[in-house]
Amino acid sequence: MIRTVSVTPFKDQKPGTSGLRKKVPVFQTPGYTEAFIQSVFDSLEDYQGKTLVIGGDGRFYNREVIQTAIAMAAANGFGRVLVGQGGILSTPAASHLIRKYQAFGGLILSASHNPGGPTEDFGIKYNISNGGPAPEKITEAIYARTQTIDRYRIADFEAVNLDSLGTFEGAGMTIEVVDPVADYAALMETLFDFDAIRALVSGGFRIAFDAMHAVTGPYAREILVKRLGVDEASVLNATPLEDFGGHHPDPNLVHAKELYDLMMGPDAPDFGAASDGDGDRNLIIGRGVFVTPSDSLAMLAANAHLAPGYKGGLKGIARSMPTSGAADRVAAKLGVEMHETPTGWKFFGNLLDAGRCTICGEESAGTGSDHVREKDGLWAVLLWLNILAVRKQSVKQIVEDHWAEYGRTYYSRHDYEAIDTDQANGLVAALEARLDGLAGHEAGSLTIEKADSFTYHDPVDGSVSRNQGLRIFFEGGSRLVFRLSGTGTSGATLRVYMERHEPDPARHGQETQDALAPVIAAAESLAGIRGWTGRDAPTVIT
Ligand code: G1P
Ligand code: ZN
Repeated sequence: MIRTVSVTPFKDQKPGTSGLRKKVPVFQTPGYTEAFIQSVFDSLEDYQGKTLVIGGDGRFYNREVIQTAIAMAAANGFGRVLVGQGGILSTPAASHLIRKYQAFGGLILSASHNPGGPTEDFGIKYNISNGGPAPEKITEAIYARTQTIDRYRIADFEAVNLDSLGTFEGAGMTIEVVDPVADYAALMETLFDFDAIRALVSGGFRIAFDAMHAVTGPYAREILVKRLGVDEASVLNATPLEDFGGHHPDPNLVHAKELYDLMMGPDAPDFGAASDGDGDRNLIIGRGVFVTPSDSLAMLAANAHLAPGYKGGLKGIARSMPTSGAADRVAAKLGVEMHETPTGWKFFGNLLDAGRCTICGEESAGTGSDHVREKDGLWAVLLWLNILAVRKQSVKQIVEDHWAEYGRTYYSRHDYEAIDTDQANGLVAALEARLDGLAGHEAGSLTIEKADSFTYHDPVDGSVSRNQGLRIFFEGGSRLVFRLSGTGTSGATLRVYMERHEPDPARHGQETQDALAPVIAAAESLAGIRGWTGRDAPTVIT
């Protein structure tokens, strides 16, 4: 039986950088989750009888929302739902399923790298038929609908047994519980030289992969351990937990500190990597060397042709605006297009669909390619392994060779988390008001060349996205970017991005924060971060 239930709009259902993210108790408010899912369906057209993919990162409340989403998909007329066994699908695996089975779209339940648990974070994101996050046009329509919605539709049927594979019928809809790993692992085999990686591993090359008690555990066991012969003990924290063991499943130097310490220690393995809550981010560390995500993007792009899936070369490279310019230098050398998009993976979709780029990445530990329409943590790990297997050099050698060829782009991001929203907005507004007059002025030892608020003109569909971050360029090529996070669930997070290019190999051995000291000082003098936020130091430095 299908029920129509009345509901009053919730004012705060505006999707952010990556879907709607709130604390679990907010999603547990009666009607809250249903109102958002119904608003998604109401913003779509012509999906009757079609397929919807549903899965999540396994965090607390995942199973409950999956049952709700299935019952609502049935009531709204979808013909088939594909759901990952146990309710699990990594974000890139969900993207792949949507594409492979030509689904109409998908609901991905995740708050990515944010903590999980009864009082922690949850999220719902809608992806379109190309497998990628819904573009702004759709997320805006969803938000508009949440503001007027007055009812949702839900079918009454018994909870689906998410743990056993198989096909079930319910309320006129087919529900298939699928293996979350199989199709994704098969896709990886088409892109990378598994024989070469297996030979590397059996030759004594040691790996440490930290799944952070999040979704990539089962994927890493299947791909790294079963198919590539990596020792099982090398996959750390491989069991997904609803609260990620109480940690932030965020693969950065703060939250993956154990891995970092291991990789910097005397008995470090050759290669260390980690992925986040939903498996789309990656952290890459060689023995004694951390590879910044911006550098990793550049290095993967420069070497991708060594993997079978990319042997024909790249069509182009894309990066989010705050990501460093290291990849631009690779694109210039390869003679391919370079695109600079706003923060968030949804802006890469059009470029990938139009064949205008092959590899894309963000400074926030995200890299991916045209194989899916999401960033992909294990993909980055496998591409690095493929490159290492072919080049037969250490990560450190590859990194240093790259810097010698292209110069080193020192890069860091300083986050001020959970600051007061009014203060954050005040800081940004005050700086923005001064942007036009900044050119020619000095900030400490640096001279400002130009400053603007980033606007993106999508070259494929002509859409325009404004207010995507404040940029300050200095003479000599350093750059400073300020923007507010669009993924937080409490207060505001100010992100300050700093970079400086250093062509001289004799100066490539500096500590990053030292190398960036003039840019860091300029950030404080231009924006008055301490005064506005009352904070002496960033919460997280990456
Ligand atoms: C953050 C990252 C951004 C990434 C997003 C989703 O968004 O900065 O690059 O796409 O998470 O993983 P933000 O919180 O900055 O809006
Ligand atoms: Zn993520």
